[in-house]
Amino acid sequence: MTDLSVEVCGLRLRNPTMLASGVLDETGKSMLAVAKAGAGAIVTKSIGRDPRVGHPNPTVVELDHGLLNAMGLPNPGIELYAEEINEAKKSGIPIIGSVFGGTEEEIADLAMLMERSGADAVELNLSCPHAKGYGAELGSTPERVESICRLTRGKTKVPILAKLTPNTSSIADLARAAERGGAHCIVAINTLKGMAIDPESRQPILGNKFGGLSGPAIKPVGVRCVYEIYEAVQIPIIGVGGIASGKDAIEYMMAGASAVQIGTAVWTEGTGIFGKVCKEMSKFMKENGYATPRELVGVAHPARR
Ligand SMILES: Cc1cc2nc3c(=O)[nH]c(=O)nc-3n(C[C@H](O)[C@H](O)[C@H](O)COP(=O)(O)O)c2cc1C
Repeated sequence: MTDLSVEVCGLRLRNPTMLASGVLDETGKSMLAVAKAGAGAIVTKSIGRDPRVGHPNPTVVELDHGLLNAMGLPNPGIELYAEEINEAKKSGIPIIGSVFGGTEEEIADLAMLMERSGADAVELNLSCPHAKGYGAELGSTPERVESICRLTRGKTKVPILAKLTPNTSSIADLARAAERGGAHCIVAINTLKGMAIDPESRQPILGNKFGGLSGPAIKPVGVRCVYEIYEAVQIPIIGVGGIASGKDAIEYMMAGASAVQIGTAVWTEGTGIFGKVCKEMSKFMKENGYATPRELVGVAHPARR
């Protein structure tokens, strides 16, 4: 088997696949199961300061080529979640703590608490499209992205991953701002804001009306975002959005991603997806003469060819 190990902003991964925030990562036990299935790292559910129940049902609509979700960031709050991190750490793979907050200070403080809970890195959720006062509402302007990253940098020592929204006219501008603020890595993309209406009842299906679209339908958007970000910043990028095969992961890496995250495919296919993606990546690399995953990064850009 090809050596798939990679290093991304100081984190050593046995392979470039990571669990994306929000699927099977609410408990230490489920994260251990994902690690056992072969993921290279795990991103936790986004955690806030206080416990939060999330949006009313229905919170997920299954579509032909993806999912529309408006979970509303349900979570037990940072204090209780520390136990889950502890448990997940037994896996021995990097655990990246995702945080969200309502103000710049709150996000930076939560990142600090996440670090104290034992997380090996923090991912700032600057991009959830369906929780009022959080996520993309704070992460949509370069000024705020920069200042959130700068404040967080001042309060933490572990690597900072800035997870950006595609619901913007220029994700490259947001990425440049995150880099200026001191982020060590960009994660792209979070879900695309969308909605579904039931014609019979003439009503929006999701309890929250609006949600975030994920899965195969958004892969071309994610690949385009990673490609644009790669040309805009020097820090590494982690690609996410619609990855369900080795070739999907390779597409993201050729666009400029050093590693990838998988969310919806874990929901639809189970934890076996990590082994499957890695096996398919190895096969492609062997057949096409790539010795390490690093050799794939950015090769779709004219300057790298
Ligand atoms: C059910 C569900 C819950 C999610 N919750 C979070 C979350 O808490 N924080 C976050 O940053 N992203 C969250 N996401 C977004 C994913 O991490 C990912 O960015 C997005 O779904 C695109 O990747 P995918 O197509 O592989 O799912 C969630 C996605 C889904 C489907």
